Amino acid sequence: MASFLMNNCFGKSLKNVWCGASVYRYFSKTATSTHLDFDYDGPSMKTTVPGPHSQDLLKQLGDIQNVGAINFFCNYEKSRGNYLVDVDDNRMLDLYTQISSIPIGYNHPALLKLMSNPNNMSTFVNRPALGILPPHNFPDKITQSLLSVAPSGMTRVQTMACGSCSNENAYKAMFIWYRNKERGKNTPSNEDISTCMINQAPGCPDLSILSFMGAFHGRTMGCLATTHSKSIHKLDVPSFDWPIAPFPRLQYPLEEFTRENGQEEARCLEEVEDLIVKWRQRGKPVAGIVIEPIQAEGGDNHASPDFFRSLRNIARKHGCAFHVDEVQTGGGSTGKFWAHEHWGMDDPADIVSFSKKLLTGGYYHKDELQADKPYRIFNTWMGDPSKNLFLLEVLNVIRRENLLEQVTHSGKALLDGLQELQVQYPGILSCARGQGTFCAIDVCDDETRNSILLKTRDKGVLLGGCGDRSIRFRPALIFKEYHVHLFLNIFNDVLAQFK
Ligand SMILES: Cc1ncc(COP(=O)(O)O)c(C=O)c1O
Repeated sequence: MASFLMNNCFGKSLKNVWCGASVYRYFSKTATSTHLDFDYDGPSMKTTVPGPHSQDLLKQLGDIQNVGAINFFCNYEKSRGNYLVDVDDNRMLDLYTQISSIPIGYNHPALLKLMSNPNNMSTFVNRPALGILPPHNFPDKITQSLLSVAPSGMTRVQTMACGSCSNENAYKAMFIWYRNKERGKNTPSNEDISTCMINQAPGCPDLSILSFMGAFHGRTMGCLATTHSKSIHKLDVPSFDWPIAPFPRLQYPLEEFTRENGQEEARCLEEVEDLIVKWRQRGKPVAGIVIEPIQAEGGDNHASPDFFRSLRNIARKHGCAFHVDEVQTGGGSTGKFWAHEHWGMDDPADIVSFSKKLLTGGYYHKDELQADKPYRIFNTWMGDPSKNLFLLEVLNVIRRENLLEQVTHSGKALLDGLQELQVQYPGILSCARGQGTFCAIDVCDDETRNSILLKTRDKGVLLGGCGDRSIRFRPALIFKEYHVHLFLNIFNDVLAQFK
């Protein structure tokens, strides 16, 4: 029913008009018929979600694993473009994209073609131990893919398997760099070598990494010490005594609260410097500062380019490495390939980590953060060359189809629409915010947020939650203005039920 009404709406040339007395309805702009040739033309729902087939599979898997987090089971053969199809044949417009990790939609023809090319078969079939036995084309492929989008000032990249593993190794690289700097040479003492084997200083030094309240950097032990988004991630796991600074709590829209937000950011920066000094006095110097350009899992919290520029300067002043975690923000969804490009800096960071939309994990780093000896940063796979092949093709599609421009355009339509909806539903929605299509909005409380997410899903749109009561929007880069209006209409229908 929803999609039928919407198709009728799209036939008319109405520009963001509200109408209807009892049920408010958001009429989108005309959807110019620029469908992607591999996309569907709208959601199609056969059951509520999870449907019966998903529920059967849930029981089956429940005998093997904890399935508490599973939403439903998917049919990835049938999924296309912006649409995820489930095992009950429900077709949903996906604005969450596997936790923000699908760059150019499901079953993109360019990627399918790559799979069917016989020259690529050996790369898919034989996963190498990259650190010792890389394939002949690895330097070329990594140069054409990852290095072609290297952040400013960085010519080196280390691939890894996932986001946490990338951050975990980036932290190690910062500690190794810091200790070599302290020693004034790369050669460890005999005492360093003997004490590290029993987890004691000086071999295992009391160094720290400064992170921010609300941050999410992953769930492995080191990363978890810098993750402060939700207690469920951290409970019962021993951690390090490392400094945690407040992340600015800004008021939105940012342009209306520049003075107040500036004061809040100054407060947080002051606290950062205090913590760096305090931890040095405690004998646990801060070797690195880690931060997300937009705190994602922690609630889509923004800070200004000025804040990040000042923070970068503080890191430099105190001799700490500056690590920008672009695992969620990287890959184009903010309208620039890296979110930190919005800060307008030539030397934005010492380390930039990535994963998700880049398909392979890893981190870029300055030359001096290269570990001095083999096996210090190492694991069996150290990434996967087949993912570099996919990434290369993804980058070709992004460039060929000007997807970053499209993201900026769709993102503006999305944010405008969300801002209109928050005016329409002031008791429910607030704080619409975003950069590109990397948008979010707050809901009055956690329970209403979760209920909105489920009702929207039953109407054929997938969204994600973040923070205590926010909804995050993470569509693929092929999400066009047409899809924005499709989504806004359905979202409005759902919100009307809460009014
Ligand atoms: C900013 C950030 N860093 C790190 C991670 C961890 O990545 P992964 O889940 O691949 O370990 C995430 C995951 O959501 C993230 O958003």
